[in-house]
Amino acid sequence: MSRTILKLGGSVITDKDRAETLDGDALESAADAVAAALADEASGLEDLVIVHGGGSFGHHAASAHGVGTSAESGTRDAGAVLDIHGAMTTLNRFVLDRLLERDVPAVPVHPLSAAHRDGTGELTLATGQVETMLGEGFVPVLHGDMVAHAGAGSTVVSGDELVAELARDLEADRVGLCSTVPGVLDDGDEVIDRIASYGDVEEFLGGSDATDVTGGMAAKVRALLDLEPSASIFGLEALESFLAGEQPGTTIE
Ligand code: IPE
Repeated sequence: MSRTILKLGGSVITDKDRAETLDGDALESAADAVAAALADEASGLEDLVIVHGGGSFGHHAASAHGVGTSAESGTRDAGAVLDIHGAMTTLNRFVLDRLLERDVPAVPVHPLSAAHRDGTGELTLATGQVETMLGEGFVPVLHGDMVAHAGAGSTVVSGDELVAELARDLEADRVGLCSTVPGVLDDGDEVIDRIASYGDVEEFLGGSDATDVTGGMAAKVRALLDLEPSASIFGLEALESFLAGEQPGTTIE
């Protein structure tokens, strides 16, 4: 039986180019895949934590306020914090609703109230509540958010950073990032099967096309390389196979 951390990329479940617009079909099919895997005992999936990104909710709000993940891009404007956090909790509610409709026992965990950065920018996330939720049969659903940042006011925390913290603290067996691409791509747009170090892919990883205050694919690969369990990056079409125990897309070791 495995403990899995799954991130649903913000660009998968939203239309990243239009402010606060859901990609309803994509979200429904992600929720279908999660519900099917939890209902299927053969999947071996026991504990599942979901994290979702910001897409056209968090990223538009964060860029409107000029806020990012670094200390230099923090804000002390409580209205800005609430705008960005509010965009994310709106999206979180959509995700929870779609899961609940399919009898997935999803409950929210809002990082603004559960995490902070110290003066060096290092993130600390409380996970006792997540562990207890899992023990009680819930599926905790976290999201990219704003967090208090010592010396910088408040900064963005990306879903990828949360995934890394959760994977370590909860000793996850599997980590999956469901993205808009079928994996990390090389310069011929072929999926790279395995990545063992950042040097393997540096030449292929440019910036993200759309508004993304948290660094796109390069940041994802960096964060996942440090993790104990291997992580998979795959597209929505492969979510079902990932949840069934396979390793679709790119495996980051
Ligand atoms: C961003 O989270 C959250 C905010 C901008 C508040 P992510 O960086 O994980 O979002 P996606 O997956 O790239 O959209």
